[in-house]
Amino acid sequence: MTRVLTGIQSTGVPHLGNILGAIRPAVQLSRADKHDAFLFIADMHAFTSVRDPQAIREHGHAVAAAWLACGLDVERVTFYRQSDVPEVTELTWYLGCMTPYPMLANAHSFKDKSDRLSEVNAGLFYYPVLMAADILLYDADIVPVGKDQKQHLEITRDIAAAFNRQYGEVLVVPEARIDAQVMIVPGTDGRKMSKSYDNVLNVFLPEKELKKQVMSIVTDSTPLEEPKDPDKDHVFALFKLLASEADTATMRDNYERGGYGYGHAKKELLGLLLDTFAQERQLFQELMEDRDLLEERLRVGAEKARTVAQATLRRVRQAGGYA
Ligand code: ADP
Ligand code: TRP
Repeated sequence: MTRVLTGIQSTGVPHLGNILGAIRPAVQLSRADKHDAFLFIADMHAFTSVRDPQAIREHGHAVAAAWLACGLDVERVTFYRQSDVPEVTELTWYLGCMTPYPMLANAHSFKDKSDRLSEVNAGLFYYPVLMAADILLYDADIVPVGKDQKQHLEITRDIAAAFNRQYGEVLVVPEARIDAQVMIVPGTDGRKMSKSYDNVLNVFLPEKELKKQVMSIVTDSTPLEEPKDPDKDHVFALFKLLASEADTATMRDNYERGGYGYGHAKKELLGLLLDTFAQERQLFQELMEDRDLLEERLRVGAEKARTVAQATLRRVRQAGGYA
Protein backbone atom coordinates (compact mmCIF):
# COMPACT_ATOMS: atom_id res chain seq x y z
CA MET A 1 0.00 0.00 0.00
CA THR A 2 1.23 3.50 -0.83
CA ARG A 3 2.33 5.40 2.27
CA VAL A 4 1.41 9.08 2.44
CA LEU A 5 3.16 11.12 5.12
CA THR A 6 3.12 14.74 6.14
CA GLY A 7 4.17 16.95 9.05
CA ILE A 8 2.34 19.80 10.71
CA GLN A 9 4.19 22.71 12.27
CA SER A 10 3.32 23.11 15.92
CA THR A 11 3.05 26.82 16.29
CA GLY A 12 0.02 27.22 18.54
CA VAL A 13 -3.72 26.77 18.46
CA PRO A 14 -4.88 26.26 14.86
CA HIS A 15 -7.14 29.06 13.55
CA LEU A 16 -10.16 28.98 11.22
CA GLY A 17 -7.89 29.24 8.16
CA ASN A 18 -5.88 26.20 9.27
CA ILE A 19 -9.07 24.26 9.97
CA LEU A 20 -10.82 24.98 6.68
CA GLY A 21 -7.68 25.07 4.54
CA ALA A 22 -5.72 22.15 5.96
CA ILE A 23 -7.28 20.11 8.77
CA ARG A 24 -10.75 19.46 7.36
CA PRO A 25 -9.61 18.48 3.86
CA ALA A 26 -6.93 16.18 5.28
CA VAL A 27 -9.36 14.52 7.69
CA GLN A 28 -11.90 14.02 4.91
CA LEU A 29 -9.26 12.62 2.59
CA SER A 30 -8.04 10.20 5.25
CA ARG A 31 -11.56 8.84 5.63
CA ALA A 32 -12.03 8.17 1.93
CA ASP A 33 -8.46 7.26 1.21
CA LYS A 34 -7.10 3.76 1.03
CA HIS A 35 -3.56 4.94 1.58
CA ASP A 36 -1.52 4.15 4.61
CA ALA A 37 -1.41 7.63 6.17
CA PHE A 38 1.19 9.01 8.59
CA LEU A 39 0.59 12.43 10.10
CA PHE A 40 2.81 13.97 12.73
CA ILE A 41 3.28 17.11 14.76
CA ALA A 42 6.71 18.53 13.96
CA ASP A 43 7.46 19.76 17.46
CA MET A 44 11.24 19.32 17.26
CA HIS A 45 11.55 21.73 14.36
CA ALA A 46 10.12 24.38 16.68
CA PHE A 47 13.26 24.13 18.83
CA THR A 48 15.18 26.19 16.26
CA SER A 49 13.37 29.22 17.66
CA VAL A 50 11.10 28.48 20.65
CA ARG A 51 12.92 28.73 23.98
CA ASP A 52 9.93 28.34 26.31
CA PRO A 53 9.37 24.69 27.38
CA GLN A 54 5.79 25.41 28.37
CA ALA A 55 5.11 26.79 24.88
CA ILE A 56 6.65 23.70 23.24
CA ARG A 57 4.39 21.45 25.31
CA GLU A 58 1.25 23.59 24.94
CA HIS A 59 1.62 24.09 21.20
CA GLY A 60 2.08 20.38 20.61
CA HIS A 61 -0.99 19.61 22.68
CA ALA A 62 -3.11 22.31 21.08
CA VAL A 63 -2.31 21.10 17.57
CA ALA A 64 -2.98 17.48 18.53
CA ALA A 65 -6.26 18.37 20.27
CA ALA A 66 -7.41 20.40 17.26
CA TRP A 67 -6.80 17.58 14.78
CA LEU A 68 -8.46 15.04 17.05
CA ALA A 69 -11.39 17.37 17.72
CA CYS A 70 -11.86 17.82 13.96
CA GLY A 71 -12.40 14.11 13.58
CA LEU A 72 -9.01 12.62 12.79
CA ASP A 73 -9.41 8.88 13.17
CA VAL A 74 -6.36 7.49 14.96
CA GLU A 75 -7.32 3.98 13.91
CA ARG A 76 -6.93 4.90 10.25
CA VAL A 77 -4.10 7.39 10.48
CA THR A 78 -0.83 6.92 12.32
CA PHE A 79 -0.91 10.21 14.25
CA TYR A 80 2.10 11.01 16.42
CA ARG A 81 4.37 13.66 17.81
CA GLN A 82 7.82 13.84 16.22
CA SER A 83 9.62 14.00 19.58
CA ASP A 84 7.97 10.76 20.72
CA VAL A 85 10.08 8.87 18.18
CA PRO A 86 13.64 9.96 18.99
CA GLU A 87 14.99 7.55 16.35
CA VAL A 88 14.53 10.47 13.99
CA THR A 89 17.51 12.27 15.47
CA GLU A 90 19.82 9.31 14.93
CA LEU A 91 18.78 9.09 11.30
CA THR A 92 19.32 12.85 11.02
CA TRP A 93 23.00 12.29 11.83
CA TYR A 94 23.54 9.57 9.23
CA LEU A 95 21.71 11.62 6.60
CA GLY A 96 23.57 14.79 7.48
CA CYS A 97 26.85 13.03 6.72
CA MET A 98 25.52 12.27 3.21
CA THR A 99 24.43 15.88 2.60
CA PRO A 100 26.72 18.24 0.66
CA TYR A 101 27.21 21.50 2.54
CA PRO A 102 26.14 23.76 -0.38
CA MET A 103 22.78 22.00 -0.61
CA LEU A 104 21.90 23.24 2.87
CA ALA A 105 23.53 26.63 2.35
CA ASN A 106 21.24 27.11 -0.67
CA ALA A 107 18.01 26.17 1.13
CA HIS A 108 15.60 29.14 1.09
CA SER A 109 14.77 28.65 4.75
CA PHE A 110 18.43 29.30 5.58
CA LYS A 111 19.39 31.69 2.79
CA ASP A 112 16.62 34.12 3.77
CA LYS A 113 18.47 34.63 7.01
CA SER A 114 22.02 34.58 5.72
CA ASP A 115 22.31 38.36 6.05
CA ARG A 116 22.14 37.95 9.85
CA LEU A 117 24.21 34.83 10.29
CA SER A 118 25.17 35.66 13.86
CA GLU A 119 21.51 35.11 14.82
CA VAL A 120 21.28 31.78 13.02
CA ASN A 121 21.79 28.56 14.97
CA ALA A 122 23.05 25.32 13.45
CA GLY A 123 19.62 23.77 13.99
CA LEU A 124 18.11 26.18 11.53
CA PHE A 125 20.83 25.28 9.04
CA TYR A 126 20.15 21.59 9.63
CA TYR A 127 16.35 21.91 9.44
CA PRO A 128 16.09 20.24 5.99
CA VAL A 129 18.05 17.21 7.20
CA LEU A 130 15.70 16.67 10.13
CA MET A 131 12.83 17.01 7.67
CA ALA A 132 14.43 14.44 5.35
CA ALA A 133 14.76 12.09 8.33
CA ASP A 134 11.07 12.66 9.18
CA ILE A 135 10.20 11.36 5.76
CA LEU A 136 12.82 8.67 5.10
CA LEU A 137 12.46 7.10 8.54
CA TYR A 138 8.95 5.98 7.60
CA ASP A 139 9.52 4.81 4.01
CA ALA A 140 7.05 7.43 2.77
CA ASP A 141 6.08 7.19 -0.91
CA ILE A 142 4.15 10.45 -1.18
CA VAL A 143 4.55 13.67 0.81
CA PRO A 144 1.80 16.27 0.39
CA VAL A 145 3.15 19.75 1.16
CA GLY A 146 2.57 23.38 0.28
CA LYS A 147 4.63 25.09 -2.45
CA ASP A 148 6.93 26.61 0.16
CA GLN A 149 8.20 23.13 1.08
CA LYS A 150 9.02 22.02 -2.46
CA GLN A 151 12.74 22.65 -2.09
CA HIS A 152 12.88 20.68 1.16
CA LEU A 153 11.37 17.71 -0.65
CA GLU A 154 13.96 17.98 -3.40
CA ILE A 155 16.68 17.96 -0.76
CA THR A 156 15.08 14.89 0.81
CA ARG A 157 15.07 13.07 -2.52
CA ASP A 158 18.70 14.03 -3.20
CA ILE A 159 19.82 12.81 0.22
CA ALA A 160 17.95 9.50 -0.19
CA ALA A 161 19.40 8.98 -3.66
CA ALA A 162 22.93 9.75 -2.42
CA PHE A 163 22.52 7.25 0.41
CA ASN A 164 21.23 4.58 -1.95
CA ARG A 165 24.04 5.20 -4.44
CA GLN A 166 26.52 4.51 -1.70
CA TYR A 167 24.80 1.66 0.15
CA GLY A 168 22.23 0.07 -2.19
CA GLU A 169 18.45 0.36 -2.09
CA VAL A 170 18.10 1.12 1.62
CA LEU A 171 15.80 4.16 1.56
CA VAL A 172 12.52 4.85 -0.25
CA VAL A 173 12.87 7.94 -2.47
CA PRO A 174 9.62 9.87 -1.91
CA GLU A 175 7.54 11.92 -4.34
CA ALA A 176 6.30 15.36 -3.38
CA ARG A 177 2.66 16.16 -3.96
CA ILE A 178 2.35 19.92 -4.06
CA ASP A 179 -1.06 20.97 -2.79
CA ALA A 180 -2.79 23.64 -4.76
CA GLN A 181 -4.23 26.05 -2.19
CA VAL A 182 -7.89 24.98 -2.24
CA MET A 183 -9.23 28.03 -0.49
CA ILE A 184 -7.92 31.10 1.24
CA VAL A 185 -9.79 32.07 4.37
CA PRO A 186 -9.70 35.83 4.93
CA GLY A 187 -8.74 37.19 8.34
CA THR A 188 -10.38 39.93 10.38
CA ASP A 189 -8.60 42.59 8.28
CA GLY A 190 -9.40 40.98 4.92
CA ARG A 191 -5.85 39.76 4.29
CA LYS A 192 -5.19 36.00 4.32
CA MET A 193 -5.85 34.74 7.82
CA SER A 194 -2.48 34.04 9.42
CA LYS A 195 -1.03 34.02 12.86
CA SER A 196 1.76 36.26 11.60
CA TYR A 197 -0.80 38.97 10.73
CA ASP A 198 -2.61 38.80 14.06
CA ASN A 199 -5.94 38.65 12.22
CA VAL A 200 -7.21 35.20 13.17
CA LEU A 201 -10.48 33.76 14.34
CA ASN A 202 -9.82 31.00 16.79
CA VAL A 203 -12.93 28.85 17.03
CA PHE A 204 -11.56 26.95 20.03
CA LEU A 205 -11.58 30.03 22.28
CA PRO A 206 -14.23 30.52 24.97
CA GLU A 207 -17.29 32.25 23.51
CA LYS A 208 -16.51 35.65 25.02
CA GLU A 209 -13.05 35.79 23.49
CA LEU A 210 -14.20 34.47 20.14
CA LYS A 211 -16.88 37.17 20.17
CA LYS A 212 -14.19 39.80 20.67
CA GLN A 213 -12.32 38.51 17.63
CA VAL A 214 -15.50 38.50 15.52
CA MET A 215 -16.37 42.04 16.65
CA SER A 216 -12.88 43.17 15.59
CA ILE A 217 -13.51 42.30 11.92
CA VAL A 218 -12.83 45.47 9.94
CA THR A 219 -15.86 46.95 8.12
CA ASP A 220 -16.45 50.20 6.24
CA SER A 221 -18.45 53.12 7.61
CA THR A 222 -21.68 52.76 5.60
CA PRO A 223 -24.46 53.81 8.04
CA LEU A 224 -26.86 51.17 9.31
CA GLU A 225 -29.85 52.35 7.22
CA GLU A 226 -28.02 52.25 3.90
CA PRO A 227 -27.68 49.27 1.56
CA LYS A 228 -24.29 47.56 1.64
CA ASP A 229 -22.26 45.62 -0.89
CA PRO A 230 -21.82 42.11 0.56
CA ASP A 231 -19.06 41.28 -1.90
CA LYS A 232 -16.84 43.99 -0.46
CA ASP A 233 -17.29 42.98 3.18
CA HIS A 234 -15.11 40.60 5.21
CA VAL A 235 -17.94 39.56 7.58
CA PHE A 236 -19.99 38.39 4.62
CA ALA A 237 -16.99 36.64 3.06
CA LEU A 238 -16.49 34.61 6.24
CA PHE A 239 -20.21 33.95 6.65
CA LYS A 240 -20.41 32.63 3.09
CA LEU A 241 -17.64 30.10 3.74
CA LEU A 242 -19.70 28.34 6.40
CA ALA A 243 -23.37 29.06 5.74
CA SER A 244 -25.83 27.10 3.61
CA GLU A 245 -26.78 28.55 0.23
CA ALA A 246 -30.18 29.60 1.54
CA ASP A 247 -28.71 31.41 4.56
CA THR A 248 -26.11 33.08 2.36
CA ALA A 249 -28.89 34.33 0.05
CA THR A 250 -30.84 35.71 3.03
CA MET A 251 -27.73 37.44 4.32
CA ARG A 252 -27.04 38.95 0.89
CA ASP A 253 -30.60 40.28 0.92
CA ASN A 254 -30.13 41.80 4.36
CA TYR A 255 -27.06 43.69 3.15
CA GLU A 256 -28.63 44.92 -0.07
CA ARG A 257 -31.94 45.95 1.50
CA GLY A 258 -30.41 48.38 4.00
CA GLY A 259 -31.45 48.83 7.62
CA TYR A 260 -29.11 45.98 8.52
CA GLY A 261 -25.84 46.87 10.26
CA TYR A 262 -22.46 45.17 10.36
CA GLY A 263 -23.08 44.55 14.06
CA HIS A 264 -26.06 42.37 13.15
CA ALA A 265 -24.00 40.46 10.60
CA LYS A 266 -21.22 39.90 13.12
CA LYS A 267 -23.70 38.46 15.63
CA GLU A 268 -24.98 36.08 12.96
CA LEU A 269 -21.44 35.06 12.07
CA LEU A 270 -20.59 34.39 15.72
CA GLY A 271 -23.72 32.22 16.07
CA LEU A 272 -22.79 30.33 12.92
CA LEU A 273 -19.23 29.70 14.14
CA LEU A 274 -20.49 28.45 17.50
CA ASP A 275 -23.02 26.16 15.78
CA THR A 276 -20.70 24.84 13.10
CA PHE A 277 -17.93 24.02 15.53
CA ALA A 278 -20.01 23.08 18.60
CA GLN A 279 -18.77 19.52 18.68
CA GLU A 280 -15.17 20.40 17.84
CA ARG A 281 -15.10 23.06 20.55
CA GLN A 282 -16.35 20.63 23.15
CA LEU A 283 -13.92 17.88 22.17
CA PHE A 284 -11.02 20.32 22.11
CA GLN A 285 -11.87 21.52 25.65
CA GLU A 286 -12.16 17.95 26.88
CA LEU A 287 -8.76 17.01 25.50
CA MET A 288 -7.05 20.15 26.75
CA GLU A 289 -8.52 19.63 30.20
CA ASP A 290 -7.52 15.97 30.35
CA ARG A 291 -3.89 15.83 29.25
CA ASP A 292 -3.59 12.18 30.23
CA LEU A 293 -6.29 11.32 27.74
CA LEU A 294 -4.56 13.43 25.10
CA GLU A 295 -1.20 11.78 25.80
CA GLU A 296 -2.87 8.38 25.62
CA ARG A 297 -4.22 9.16 22.14
CA LEU A 298 -0.74 10.25 21.04
CA ARG A 299 0.89 7.17 22.55
CA VAL A 300 -1.06 4.85 20.24
CA GLY A 301 0.36 6.64 17.20
CA ALA A 302 3.88 6.83 18.62
CA GLU A 303 3.95 3.08 19.13
CA LYS A 304 2.88 2.34 15.57
CA ALA A 305 5.33 4.89 14.19
CA ARG A 306 8.19 3.61 16.31
CA THR A 307 7.89 0.07 14.99
CA VAL A 308 8.37 1.33 11.44
CA ALA A 309 11.13 3.73 12.51
CA GLN A 310 13.15 1.03 14.23
CA ALA A 311 12.98 -1.26 11.21
CA THR A 312 14.28 1.49 8.91
CA LEU A 313 17.01 2.45 11.33
CA ARG A 314 18.15 -1.18 11.51
CA ARG A 315 18.61 -1.18 7.73
CA VAL A 316 20.49 2.11 7.85
CA ARG A 317 22.77 1.00 10.70
CA GLN A 318 23.54 -2.23 8.95
CA ALA A 319 24.30 -0.42 5.71
CA GLY A 320 26.61 2.03 7.45
CA GLY A 321 28.46 -0.59 9.46
CA TYR A 322 26.91 0.07 12.84
CA ALA A 323 25.21 -3.28 13.23
P1 ADP B 1 -0.13 30.61 9.38
O1 ADP B 1 -0.23 31.41 8.11
O2 ADP B 1 -1.15 31.00 10.38
O3 ADP B 1 1.29 30.60 9.93
P2 ADP B 1 0.57 27.98 8.49
O4 ADP B 1 1.46 28.57 7.45
O5 ADP B 1 1.18 27.31 9.68
O6 ADP B 1 -0.45 29.11 8.97
O7 ADP B 1 -0.41 26.97 7.74
C1 ADP B 1 -0.74 25.67 8.16
C2 ADP B 1 -1.71 25.10 7.15
O8 ADP B 1 -2.93 25.84 7.13
C3 ADP B 1 -1.19 25.12 5.71
O9 ADP B 1 -1.62 23.93 5.08
C4 ADP B 1 -1.88 26.31 5.09
O10 ADP B 1 -2.06 26.17 3.71
C5 ADP B 1 -3.21 26.34 5.82
N1 ADP B 1 -3.68 27.73 5.95
C6 ADP B 1 -3.10 28.68 6.71
N2 ADP B 1 -3.77 29.86 6.61
C7 ADP B 1 -4.80 29.64 5.77
C8 ADP B 1 -5.86 30.46 5.26
N3 ADP B 1 -5.99 31.74 5.61
N4 ADP B 1 -6.74 29.89 4.41
C9 ADP B 1 -6.62 28.60 4.05
N5 ADP B 1 -5.65 27.77 4.48
C10 ADP B 1 -4.74 28.28 5.34
N1 TRP C 1 8.69 21.96 7.35
C1 TRP C 1 7.27 21.71 7.23
C2 TRP C 1 6.51 23.04 7.27
O1 TRP C 1 7.08 24.05 7.60
C3 TRP C 1 6.77 20.82 8.35
C4 TRP C 1 7.41 19.48 8.27
C5 TRP C 1 8.42 19.01 9.07
C6 TRP C 1 7.14 18.46 7.30
N2 TRP C 1 8.74 17.75 8.71
C7 TRP C 1 8.01 17.38 7.63
C8 TRP C 1 6.26 18.36 6.23
C9 TRP C 1 8.00 16.21 6.87
C10 TRP C 1 6.26 17.19 5.48
C11 TRP C 1 7.12 16.12 5.80
O2 TRP C 1 5.32 23.07 6.97
